[in-house]
Amino acid sequence: MSAPKSTNIVWHPGQVTRDDRQRITGHRGCTVWFTGLSGSGKSTIAVAVEKALWDRGVRSYILDGDNIRHGLNSDLGFSPEDRTENIRRIGEVAKLFTDAGVINLTAFISPYRSDRDRVRSIMGEGDFVEVHVDCPVEECEKRDVKGLYAKARAGKIPEFTGISAPYEAPEKPELVLETAKLSEAESVAKVIAYLEKHGYVAKA
Ligand code: ADX
Repeated sequence: MSAPKSTNIVWHPGQVTRDDRQRITGHRGCTVWFTGLSGSGKSTIAVAVEKALWDRGVRSYILDGDNIRHGLNSDLGFSPEDRTENIRRIGEVAKLFTDAGVINLTAFISPYRSDRDRVRSIMGEGDFVEVHVDCPVEECEKRDVKGLYAKARAGKIPEFTGISAPYEAPEKPELVLETAKLSEAESVAKVIAYLEKHGYVAKA
């Protein structure tokens, strides 16, 4: 991680701690980091988990690759360097949400293991829950919800993950969702069960 460019900056602590926040919300903050190919189901599952948590009174929020690239990261493309910067920024934002006591759900391809591991390393113990949304590229291509695989095959999208750019699967994710075999509801249930079992949220 690079040191700040600015000099003469001093960290200013607040008076409200994470424990204070947790006492009010009744649950701890964390980042559930969904990683997987385009079309694997990351956003769909994140949206459903967010709703399921919200309905239980849990503060949850989604950071989604396509959405963030419309604003905060609109200056970034899909070169390896830009993807690394994309994930670096999101990692920092996710850390803030986690500190604020939110259950933060991120849906980025995040194809490079080293980028994801760097995010894990800036988070506190247990704050980073890596979920591999594991779906074979053939299945993602068959679904081709956004029509991007067809364009990538036709050479109209360069550096497309799974076709002409790499995807490095996590080696030790906290959770694997095989979305070609599981229904959406089953995937959501697995995420919620993990959060309950490890004390992030109370059992329903
Ligand atoms: S990441 O690799 O930097 O993590 P991110 O999740 O933000 O990617 O954005 C991926 C989304 O951008 C895909 O779901 C797809 O809709 C779109 N996209 C456009 N071009 C590409 C590309 N070359 N590779 C992958 N996804 C792309």
